[in-house]
Amino acid sequence: MKYGRIVGWGKCAPHKVLTNFDLEKMVDTSDEWIVTRTGIRERHIAGEGETTASLSVTAARQALERAGLQPADLDLILVATSSPDYLLPPVSSIIQDRLGAKCGAFMVTAGCTGFVYALATAQQFIASGAYRHVLVVGAEVISPAVDWTDRNTCVLFGDGAGAVVLKASEEPTGVLSFVLGSDGSGAKHLWMPAGGVARPPTHETVDRREHTIQMNGREVFKFATRVLASAAVEAVEKAGLTMDEIDLLIPHQANARIIELAARQLGLPMEKVFVNIDRYGNTSAASIPIALVEAIEQGYVKENSTVVMVGFGAGLTWAAAVVKMGVFTQPRYALWRTIPSRARTRARVAVGALQMRAGALLLPLYARVTKR
Ligand code: UT7
Repeated sequence: MKYGRIVGWGKCAPHKVLTNFDLEKMVDTSDEWIVTRTGIRERHIAGEGETTASLSVTAARQALERAGLQPADLDLILVATSSPDYLLPPVSSIIQDRLGAKCGAFMVTAGCTGFVYALATAQQFIASGAYRHVLVVGAEVISPAVDWTDRNTCVLFGDGAGAVVLKASEEPTGVLSFVLGSDGSGAKHLWMPAGGVARPPTHETVDRREHTIQMNGREVFKFATRVLASAAVEAVEKAGLTMDEIDLLIPHQANARIIELAARQLGLPMEKVFVNIDRYGNTSAASIPIALVEAIEQGYVKENSTVVMVGFGAGLTWAAAVVKMGVFTQPRYALWRTIPSRARTRARVAVGALQMRAGALLLPLYARVTKR
């Protein structure tokens, strides 16, 4: 059982939608500038009571239901985020508790790249035989860390969560290969200067807005165009495939121009590239799982599709993974699914044994009846 097949998926976005026209009233910007420079038209922003944990739990419940699993079936929960509800405890434990799961849980922090890192990590737990069912969440409520007076950044980000469930399988599905990269020399191109131990919060750090995201957009743009295509190519080669065999590219949704450039570098037509940045903006670690869920829902990712997920972000980090989808099982018999999977397997074995005994008893009778 060395492959982690994706058997469930779910997503959640806050109710509140902030459009470019709303932003026009807040900073010196225009819908035209934002659309042409980024491809974003609107984004979801968390309201009262909506946190990284709450969005994650909703996405995770959908993924579990789709997988036909109960929280009790989970062996591990990984949560990719840079915006946990608290610095302590880890948001992964809050999510584990609210789901009612009884397993280990931890956070993976690698900026916008976090979900691909977490997916690759989850695959290792399955490949080693340690675990059978792993929940991987990518979630962010990044809006409180946005400086809503800075037009360079506030037009870009949005909140949301996406989740998948991996199940151990013999079939070569799930993460077939991955590439993880980091170059901390570019850390200050995308960072939050205060709030950590290097610069704890003070009145001064608050007054200077040092708890908000600060970004050198041009440098991050250049970095993204350097790493996106090359990471995707490396992951595809590692999987023993060629770009022609890839059904869909699911890139981090940071800027439509970056995505289009990467597609050109890879020689992929845009029909083979999934883009939903217009409705979500950049949701950081949530962007790839939300895009994956929408791509499945809209039929761009089908049974047995091979997709490449590729991301970049704070760190600076980058990552790519080649993922093969398996057969999509239909979530049926909702009540039956409420029973933990081990108990269901035992029940199936018992019913099978009963059927065999009944068959053995009825067969002579049937033979006698049909003879007459
Ligand atoms: O997950 C990773 C996160 N980050 C990213 O992926 C960001 C990557 N970078 C980008 O997406 C782009 O660099 C931006 C969208 C951030 C900026 O686009 P750009 O085409 O690189 O614009 P620029 O920074 O070169 O700025 C061009 C002009 C500047 O005006 P001047 O100096 O030429 O007069 C900016 O002040 O556009 C101005 N500008 C804006 N104008 C209207 C910057 N932001 C805005 C805005 N509305 N929101």
